[in-house]
Amino acid sequence: MHTCPEISAETPASSAAAPCLRVTGLEKVYPNGNGGLVALRGVDLALYPREFVSLLGPSGSGKSTLLRILAGLVRPTAGEVCFTPEPSTNPSGRPAVGLVFQDANLMPWRSVRENIALPLLLAGEPRQAALAKADEWIELVGLSGFANAWPRDLSGGMAQRVAIARALIQEPALLLLDEPFGALDALTREKMAAELLRLWQDRRTTVLMVTHSISEALLLSDRVLVFSSRPGRVVLDLPVPLSRPREEGVRYTPAFGELARTLRRAIS
Ligand SMILES: Nc1ncnc2c1ncn2[C@@H]1O[C@H](COP(=O)(O)OP(=O)(O)OP(=O)(O)O)[C@@H](O)[C@H]1O
Ligand SMILES: [Mg+2]
Repeated sequence: MHTCPEISAETPASSAAAPCLRVTGLEKVYPNGNGGLVALRGVDLALYPREFVSLLGPSGSGKSTLLRILAGLVRPTAGEVCFTPEPSTNPSGRPAVGLVFQDANLMPWRSVRENIALPLLLAGEPRQAALAKADEWIELVGLSGFANAWPRDLSGGMAQRVAIARALIQEPALLLLDEPFGALDALTREKMAAELLRLWQDRRTTVLMVTHSISEALLLSDRVLVFSSRPGRVVLDLPVPLSRPREEGVRYTPAFGELARTLRRAIS
């Protein structure tokens, strides 16, 4: 992961038209003792500041691999990942990237408040300030009264709220969500999607979310990308021209149905 000099030199970060992330010719081959398993090949995409973009695609098409590469957890085999610094860039010059997985992955021996404060504590922020910010996030994600609860005492939806707060407390320039509601029941999932929409409408962090739900992608996104089956690459980049703010009821409109059909046809 590095800054792309050609983007930042030609187009100021303040320009609405300048991407904050550009991925070009990305390829990932996992060694498997048999010539390698090609997870991604020829992935090209751009994200623009404050966009909400979803990524749909068949199982095994490399969606999680892409997110891990963007988070700097996995090295690509070829291609480029170029971030343009934003005003919210951290002092190291690297854009902060928040990542939330399907499983909340909370630290079992830390309270809700301490789990949420963890990224700030690791970054060296004074304890009292970090805990005070965690308390603000506890309110924002609807967990008032649970600051001192232990992860084992939370429902799946509550744990996922903690994971989202823990990612957002760093005010990342880019929030990566990998099936964040995949382990939740359908009703909790709808509720969490509505809450995420509210948080994003308030904060306008750039979001890239992997989901298997077409309607969740359409409810939340400005654009939906569709991956081919493995090796993954973008086969459809569909703008979602539904007006905002969006309410649950938009799911039942003809425009929504038409977009859903287009996406369904594109997923092989
Ligand atoms: N660490 C790894 N080592 C080797 N192969 C891997 C590794 N991680 C993923 N793969 C392989 O890469 C391919 C893409 O996996 P990935 O998890 O990125 O897909 P995905 O689109 O996220 O799938 P799903 O929708 O099921 O979560 C799969 O064939 C998987 O087996
Ligand atoms: Mg995955």
